[in-house]
Amino acid sequence: MGKQMNMDYDSYEVQTIYPPITPYLYKKLEKKYVDYLWKIIKKGKKQKEEYKHRLAGNVSNSFGIVDEKEYFFNEVCIPMIQKFREVNGEDPVRNFVTLNPTCRLFLHEFWANYQYKHEFNPPHWHGGLYSFVIWMKIPYSWHEQIQLPQFETTKINDRKAGMFEFEYSDTRGETRSLSYQLSPDFEGGMCFFPAWMRHSVYPFFGTDEERVSISGNIWYKDGPPPSGEGFGSK
Ligand SMILES: [Fe+2]
Repeated sequence: MGKQMNMDYDSYEVQTIYPPITPYLYKKLEKKYVDYLWKIIKKGKKQKEEYKHRLAGNVSNSFGIVDEKEYFFNEVCIPMIQKFREVNGEDPVRNFVTLNPTCRLFLHEFWANYQYKHEFNPPHWHGGLYSFVIWMKIPYSWHEQIQLPQFETTKINDRKAGMFEFEYSDTRGETRSLSYQLSPDFEGGMCFFPAWMRHSVYPFFGTDEERVSISGNIWYKDGPPPSGEGFGSK
């Protein structure tokens, strides 16, 4: 499982070594994909397949969306999987559970989240192998959120309103976090990460507009457990 690190073993210089960790990927989606996603969000909203009972979030409105002819999976997800395999060497699985390398993957769950002010999504992880989040509409800016009077006495680094945050363990086993200070600039941004990577969404304030994101989970084709209670985003 060890990854080859880029080190000069003969150098007399002091080298700083960062042990390998499992990465995640970020990409801004091209307009044609963003347009497609809005199209299927609108269709899904009409049908309103209720996903809420399957999700960990405390947001008011989540519903399933349909990837027509697997367009998004083929055009965006597969290149992301290929890139992840290229940089990580393998899928994000625990040791020795990799299936037959020819085993297919598929987009098992795909849904949109409409989040309104004061709502939040507590720390959680997803089912499956790979997961992603796409920020479609961010109706606020973190830089404005932290100026709100209720945060006046909070240290700047602790002001998290409106953030998206990952958690992971460092070499001491300590939990670290990595946060996105979201604003409309992030619209169309996609984080593509191992499904087990813990993350959360903090509440935002001061606007009645909705925050819209898309999430998805990619599973091995041969091995997903049956859908149903408990197999959503927890
Ligand atoms: Fe999530």
